[in-house]
This record gives sequence, C-alpha cells and structure tokens, in this order.
Amino acid sequence: MPDKDEDKDDEESEEDNDDDELDEMPESFKKPDGQMKVGRASVSAEAFGAWNKPKPFEPVIVPKSDVQKERLKETLLKSFMFSQLDTNDMDIVVGAMKEVQCEAGVRLITQGEDGDFLFVIEDGTLECKIKVQSTGEEKVVKTVEPGDAFGELALLYNCPRAANVDSTSKCVLWQLDRATFNHIVRDAAVKRRERYEAFLQSVPLLNQMDAYERSQISDALKTEKYDKDTYILNQGEPGNTFYILEEGNAIATKSVDGGDAEMVMEYKPGDFFGERALLTDEPRAANVIASTPLRVLTLDRRSFKKMLGPLEEQIRSCTPCLV
Ligand code: CMP
Repeated sequence: MPDKDEDKDDEESEEDNDDDELDEMPESFKKPDGQMKVGRASVSAEAFGAWNKPKPFEPVIVPKSDVQKERLKETLLKSFMFSQLDTNDMDIVVGAMKEVQCEAGVRLITQGEDGDFLFVIEDGTLECKIKVQSTGEEKVVKTVEPGDAFGELALLYNCPRAANVDSTSKCVLWQLDRATFNHIVRDAAVKRRERYEAFLQSVPLLNQMDAYERSQISDALKTEKYDKDTYILNQGEPGNTFYILEEGNAIATKSVDGGDAEMVMEYKPGDFFGERALLTDEPRAANVIASTPLRVLTLDRRSFKKMLGPLEEQIRSCTPCLV
C-alpha cells in the first residue's frame, strides 16, 4: 500500500511560519512590466517587538442560516485550497465567511490596491485581468468559476493585488478575511506552493503553463511514497489517479493475451503516468512498479481534468499513453 503522507513528514520538520513573516511572491507573478511592489506599507513584521505582540487569533463569526452554511460547505469542498481542512478548521472558516452577491460587470478586485480578503465562488464566472503598463490594455489571464478561489495572492504574499477581477455573470461569492485566512490556511498553502514550485517548473509537461497555473496545481497535489518493487498501478484495474514521478525510478510492464508481463517503459523524475485511463475511461493498460524507493505526486480525476484538461493534446502526443 502507498504511504499517503500528503507532505506531512516534510512539513513537520520545517519551522512554522509566523503569520507576519513576509513570504516572497514568486517573481513570475510580478508581471507584466515588473510593476509589482512586494510587501504592504501598512504591515511590518519588525513592528512587533516583545512589547507589541500581535493579538491572539479570535474567530470571526458572521451569522448565517443553516441553508447558507450547507451551501458554503459544499462550495469549499470544491476548492483545492479549502477542501482538505479538518472539521474544526472548516467550521472556523465557515463561521467567518460572508456571502456577497453581484451582477455581471462588477470589479471585485483592483490591481495594485491592498487586499484584506479573498473570495471563493459558489456560482458565476469572473475574469482576472492584468494591466499591461506600456499600453494600458487589460489582458485576461484566467477565467475563474465555481469552486475556484481568487484574491489569495495578496494574502499569501502580503503584496498588492496582482490583477483586476471582474464578474462576467451574476455571481454568488463567499468572502474570507485576512486574519482567518492567515490563521487557518496560509502557512500550509505557502509551503505547498513553494515546495512544488521549482519541481513543477522542471516537469517538461508543465513548463509551458504560466507560474500562476502551476501554483494552483500545487494546491491540488498529494504525495505518495512506495518501496522498491511495489506496484503503483495494476493492469486491468480501473484508474482514477494521475501520477508525476518526483523522486526515484519506475518501470511499466505489460502482459499481452495472458502471457508474462514484459517491461515496456522506464520512468525517471519529471515523467508522468496514469493519464491513459483518465483520458479514455478504460482500465489500466499496464502495471507500474517502483524500481527504487520512490515518491510520486498525484492528482485525482477531477483535478486532472480541470487543471491538465487544456494539455490533453500535448499529453496524448508526448507519450505512447500507456496506463
Ligand atoms: P490577488 O493578487 O490577491 O488579486 C487578484 C487575483 O487574481 C489574484 O490574487 C489571483 O487570485 C487572481 N489571478 C488569476 N490569475 C492570475 C495571474 N496569472 N497572476 C496573478 N493573479 C492572478
């Protein structure tokens, strides 16, 4: 059985980030024209001496009906950033969120402004647009939809808003304040994004994606470890997971017409497998076996379709689509 450590052993050994520590926003988000200034004038980590400690966290409670709470929980379970919270943390976040409704054509976030909240979308769509300084033109960099969060960068990296966000339909949104986000979600999200940033950039399949898209993949990734000679996938079984090999080596073996399984492929770090069953809805077409102790990053079917769906042609063309 895989050891689904979901990053814990790596994270526990690292020191906890302080809420007020400024994590650097990845350079590649500071575009276009490099106009982004990192760090908010209004917050200073150094301002908190022993005599001036930040206040302990006090849960924010925004009253809401049971129906609203149910709708909100359902929305958060669709969001990669929030769906993995434990029940206690989920209750705190649900308690603190505020419902916001708007019509199409409303600017909810303005590039360059300070930001103290993020939104998770229950219903509707919005466009994130970055202003090209030299021409003044606004370029759409992402369309966000139900289950997506936006406005998280200003909170994760304590920097001004990196984009404008405009509604393109009637929307139902849930707004979360900075203090609750910092206390419950931020440290884990920053660590996950930083941990995977360099590796995902080195994965040939993903290096054409923009840095923001890759950071969103980090939110959805899980880690599994396997001992040498264990089977990661079994030929003939149904498949619901996509794998990227992070560390170690693996082989694929395949049996034709009930004959002995023969090796048909070798995998090294950065290679991926498990895509075929997700693209074709057919059972696994080969076994994949760890040839050394190894670690893989996994995406479930929903995350694979949502995040790597646009790369389907590339995925089909860059391997023989084995498993
Ligand atoms: P934030 O900078 O707080 O406010 C604008 C939001 O737009 C940002 O957080 C992200 O949630 C979202 N966004 C979507 N795509 C991008 C992108 N390519 N670069 C920066 N922000 C983006």
